[in-house]
Amino acid sequence: MTMNPKKPLLDVLSGNNPQRRPVWMMRQAGRYLPEYKKTRAQAGSFLELCYQPELAEEVTLQPLRRFDFDAAILFADILLIPDALGQNVSFREGEGPVLEPVRDEASALKLSTRNIVSHLAPVFETVGRLSQSLPSHVALIGFCGAPWTVATYMIEGGTSRDRQTARVTAWAGLETDSHWFNGLMELLIESSITYLKAQIAAGAEVLQIFETWASDLPPVLFDRYCIEPTRKIIDGVHETYPEVPIIGFPRGAGLQIDKFSKRSGVSGLGIDSGMALSEARHLVGEEMVLQGNLDPLCLLTGGKILEAEVRAISKACDPSRHIFNLGHGIVPATPVSHVEKMLSVLRNADAERA
Ligand code: CP3
Repeated sequence: MTMNPKKPLLDVLSGNNPQRRPVWMMRQAGRYLPEYKKTRAQAGSFLELCYQPELAEEVTLQPLRRFDFDAAILFADILLIPDALGQNVSFREGEGPVLEPVRDEASALKLSTRNIVSHLAPVFETVGRLSQSLPSHVALIGFCGAPWTVATYMIEGGTSRDRQTARVTAWAGLETDSHWFNGLMELLIESSITYLKAQIAAGAEVLQIFETWASDLPPVLFDRYCIEPTRKIIDGVHETYPEVPIIGFPRGAGLQIDKFSKRSGVSGLGIDSGMALSEARHLVGEEMVLQGNLDPLCLLTGGKILEAEVRAISKACDPSRHIFNLGHGIVPATPVSHVEKMLSVLRNADAERA
């Protein structure tokens, strides 16, 4: 049953007792690290960093040289899929992603899965390199964005305050089966399966599906456009790779994590900072592996409150059913010393607990 007894993340996700509670951080490679900013400048642009395997491998490894994490997450972005589908994607300094919006059938029909594997070949090369270079206790996580979240950026043309255009489009899709939005979701499901399977073929051992904007979807839309697509992606991946664990992260889903955990097929459930881990456990039952959920802004704050919050998470969660993480990505202003503190407090608290 044990795939690799020396990797705590894989042990927890396959129901075995880990040597210790696994820990990693969302956005662990990023702008809070001075060495990341250096490599990023060397690459020229963010997309060029994603598409140069040597540099993408380097930034993936940077946090692991500083911190004793149990996982590395592939350095890439959820918006590489729209880029590979032929939508024009760029990242502007201080502005975030900019895409040519898809707002009608004609622009949706221009997208094509034809070139995604060749377009994303550098990403698979990064995964292959990492699978050779990671320390033996570190698991390699591949990922994609969930279709709804990726669609919000494609429809809005970038980050938007409340994603109103995308949300209205989803209602139109629910009302009319033949609406182009449903075609777009199917295209994203299909490309995500292809993309994730190729990441596994190259060496990814665990996958995470990021549904950053799950909070946009009221129950009927959540069932149709979050749970269903996630389940289709997981079924598609598991048809070829039944053993690979997949973590879902429906951020802001609130009470809807209950049905999500029962119906989507995930092996692990990312919890955002808006819900106590003890409540999440109560909702989803004893079996499901939970991941999370220190508030990134508590990590930024540091000091005694950081110590208290990390201790509370250690105390609340059985280390064989929990992956320590933040409730969302680390923010760029976070001092590196706060991450060190978080890790030492966690290890001490877990030792006292044992
Ligand atoms: O270390 C890691 O977590 C691995 C790499 C990773 C990135 N983005 C790198 C990145 C991962 C897993 C993502 C996921 C991602 N990308 C999500 C889902 C998770 C989440 O944070 O909600 C989303 C919504 C995106 C889309 C995206 N990428 C936006 C909106 C932005 C701009 C905002 C920002 O944080 O700058 C990005 C850029 C991005 N992706 C950066 C990094 C390190 C910063 C870019 C830079 O260096 O200038």
